[in-house]
Amino acid sequence: MSDRLFIFDTTLRDGEQVPGCQLNTVEKIQVAKQLETLGVDVIEAGFPISSPGDFNSVIEISKAVTWPTICALTRAVQKDIDVAAEALQYAKHKRIHTGIGTSDSHIKYKFNSTREEIIERAVNAVKYAKRYVEDVEFYAEDAGRTENEYLARVVEAVIKAGATVVNIPDTTGYCLPDEYGAKIKYLMEHVDGIDKAIISTHCHNDLGMATANTVSGVLNGARQVEVTINGIGERAGNTSLEEVAMILRCHHDIHIDTNINTQKIYPTSRMVSSLMNMPVQPNKAIVGRNAFAHSSGIHQDGVLKNAQTYEIIDPKDVGIDDNAIVLTARSGRAALKHRLHVLGVEMTQEKLDKVYEDFLKLADKKKDITDDDILVLAGADRNVNHHIKLEYLQVTSGVGVRSVASLGLNISGEHFEAAATGNGPVDAAIKAVKQIIKRQMTLKEFTIQAISKGSDDVGKVHMQVEYDGQMYYGFGANTDIIAASVEAYIDCINKFRK
Ligand code: KIV
Ligand code: ZN
Repeated sequence: MSDRLFIFDTTLRDGEQVPGCQLNTVEKIQVAKQLETLGVDVIEAGFPISSPGDFNSVIEISKAVTWPTICALTRAVQKDIDVAAEALQYAKHKRIHTGIGTSDSHIKYKFNSTREEIIERAVNAVKYAKRYVEDVEFYAEDAGRTENEYLARVVEAVIKAGATVVNIPDTTGYCLPDEYGAKIKYLMEHVDGIDKAIISTHCHNDLGMATANTVSGVLNGARQVEVTINGIGERAGNTSLEEVAMILRCHHDIHIDTNINTQKIYPTSRMVSSLMNMPVQPNKAIVGRNAFAHSSGIHQDGVLKNAQTYEIIDPKDVGIDDNAIVLTARSGRAALKHRLHVLGVEMTQEKLDKVYEDFLKLADKKKDITDDDILVLAGADRNVNHHIKLEYLQVTSGVGVRSVASLGLNISGEHFEAAATGNGPVDAAIKAVKQIIKRQMTLKEFTIQAISKGSDDVGKVHMQVEYDGQMYYGFGANTDIIAASVEAYIDCINKFRK
């Protein structure tokens, strides 16, 4: 008999804390519905007291999703819990996730408190949350660096107070796998009443060990894992859902099952990457572009003879289907609608008509349209309300000559033009933009990513611009990478605080 492991997805809370990757409520609903299709047990939908946007997202996700539990984060503060409970009012299954730092450094520097007082605050928060919901999860922030004996006292006290799940976060990603596993084992063996709650892992990837630590936690008794799609999250990110799900699937000998429909992994990964404008590294396990690409002759020969020689996962098991219909200029609206549906994107007829129009324009420039292209097109209207828009762009460049760019911008309905020379076409175009937008801004980061293989591919550009002491993130996508770069730059400027 296999044990059941609960999958707690925090893409929309911890994952969304990545600077520049914030989603609006409509996009969050889209991701939440996809997570439901994927089969996650719990969706952490936000931290309602942190902003009206988070509050509203928890409300709307609660309405949109049926069977996963919707979870809202709070600090161990009554007001936070009141607001979380209000945000969860429409959830069919609801959970409040409350907690406090338990490591000595958190107790001393963050709370200027004592160990005993922290236990009291933890217990009070759990009891208070219980007034609103039956399902209360407690997190012991920085548990990874909390002494085991004290941690066991905290866990015992919160279970006694009614916590149904206790989360043991390695907040700083500090632990070694053996150390984290031993921590979970210690709790399983030393906490009275541990059978009344589920122990959860929550591992960060600062030292590249999030997945290893999570699996070690599971092997030692944890029965919930907190994960994100593509492992996104602050700093080096969180444990990636797809890695844990596939480890358990590949290693039947562990005898632990999840409810994940693994064939939905790849479309979900693409959707999150596309909506958050966050590229997946090509060699990322399970969902990276090269995860199943065998390039050496010996490997290719082996795989052609029998895939099992070098493949431990059939790409189809994670939803990668090389035979998927490729859309071209001859594809109709219905084919596009079907592909969007497979990718988890539903839209109104009006929006579909617009996306189809853009699709035909792209198909004129590019032979085969990939899923990534479609997802970019589906999200392309996110900039329609921007007050600065690129009207035209002309660039001449070559070897041994300085590049020249001329462009036109529409700023709140007014037309502006400028021309500039530069070290390269992007430099020239950005200087032209700066002639019109006369602000002291500095380009800090500039990444160009071609999504698939062809020279006709859509280039995605991510930029970070510093202005007035603040960092702004912008995104652009176009088959012309100079245009994509200018779009990303303008996207940053549109976000400047007025
Ligand atoms: O990493 C962490 O400690 C967290 C908690 C708020 C659960 O994200
Ligand atoms: Zn975290």
